[in-house]
Amino acid sequence: MSSEIRVSIPNSLNEYWMPFTSNRDFKSNPRLITEAKGVYFKDHLGRSQIDASSGLFCNPLGHGRKEIIKAITDQLEKLDFCQPFQQGFGGSFELATKISRHTPGNLNKIFYTICGSTAVETAIKIGIAYHKAKGHGHRYRFVGREKAYHGMNIGATTLGGMINNIKTFSSVLMPGVLHMRHTMLPEHKFVKGQPETGAELADDLERFAINFGAENIAACIVEPISGSVGTLVPPKGYLQRLRQICDKHGILLIFDEVITGWGRTGSSFAAVEYGVTPDIMTMAKATTNGIVPMGVVAVKEEIYDTITQSSPDGAIEFFHGYTYSGIPIAVAAALAVQDIFEKEDIFARAKKLSPYFLDGLFSLKDISVIDNIRGYGMMGGIDIRPKDRPGKAGLQCFKACYDVGVNFKATGDCLIVAPPFVCEKKHIDEIIEKMRKGITAYSKHN
Ligand SMILES: Cc1ncc(COP(=O)(O)O)c(C=O)c1O
Repeated sequence: MSSEIRVSIPNSLNEYWMPFTSNRDFKSNPRLITEAKGVYFKDHLGRSQIDASSGLFCNPLGHGRKEIIKAITDQLEKLDFCQPFQQGFGGSFELATKISRHTPGNLNKIFYTICGSTAVETAIKIGIAYHKAKGHGHRYRFVGREKAYHGMNIGATTLGGMINNIKTFSSVLMPGVLHMRHTMLPEHKFVKGQPETGAELADDLERFAINFGAENIAACIVEPISGSVGTLVPPKGYLQRLRQICDKHGILLIFDEVITGWGRTGSSFAAVEYGVTPDIMTMAKATTNGIVPMGVVAVKEEIYDTITQSSPDGAIEFFHGYTYSGIPIAVAAALAVQDIFEKEDIFARAKKLSPYFLDGLFSLKDISVIDNIRGYGMMGGIDIRPKDRPGKAGLQCFKACYDVGVNFKATGDCLIVAPPFVCEKKHIDEIIEKMRKGITAYSKHN
């Protein structure tokens, strides 16, 4: 091993407790990423890998974007940090205005957080504060959905529906949370885009309204497309039905667009793509092209007005915020990203590339270990048929693909594919070819 490669390897792997990682397995055969440029990574053995999941839905603009790096470094030179309470920084106002131009309807009030989890936590609190301000303090229940992922704080964990994330912590979860059924029906196997059946699954919310009292429900939160379980696309009419039920009962509808936001569906937001406007929307990840942590909550004007006007003049209206809410470098990165979105017409680019990507993804259908493929826009999921313990096939398949030079995330037995929007057709071809090679290699050895 050359000395250049050796410097990329830390002296000890023992101390770092890695997140969402099989630590013991990793440490016996580590995978260290040393460089990222365009749509490629390099690992500690000097191997090139194509990025098939945009980091983790984070980097639609690719890696090493000079414009973003410059914006961050310029910002650091000028104003590296200022605390965000009772004082402001011009960029955060400018960014809020830009974000509000993309959000649907009048979701024009923008609150900054640190990440997706804190955006969801903030949305929960805004929901509660809104109902309290209206004199509806009895609305305490939240409705989530099976197979959902909303992050890992206690509130977000409770609303999520991926059982491994929840079961250890059941003693400390939020009270009163109900989960609708997920929308993955057996007849949806290998369906590209929105399934025709299943809109009636939204009626679970109506049942909760009847059985638990609609007047006790604060909000219903869904990912328009569930991302972390591998692109569960909403059945046609499903989101519209949720909207109708929420309207009927005064329940707030929250769309968690941490993954689907900023072009992943081919529109700015899934809310725009599907023509359903929520009351609150969360985003993170691609907001800064994944480079600086940042979460955002977009809120309808009447929610903001109700909360702010219920407080005495001069009082803090919403007792919530983070030291790192909209810090200068996050804002600088997000503003640079907004410029690139505009200059490169990036959502249109994603929409145009989507059919080519989805055709490539579904071309893998013949591989025998593949149990299902789903996809919409620039995101897709491939389920690997589990052999024994759930999750084992996904990890092994991920490793086999990593070894042949394609980098993505596996969750359980699902491979998450979400290429950067700056990919050209040749990059999509490379991703699909390498996935075929890796999955086939996995299937031969397992
Ligand atoms: C839909 C959704 N919401 C929230 C989160 C949590 O985001 P973070 O990991 O930035 O806290 C994620 C993360 O993947 C997500 O996919």
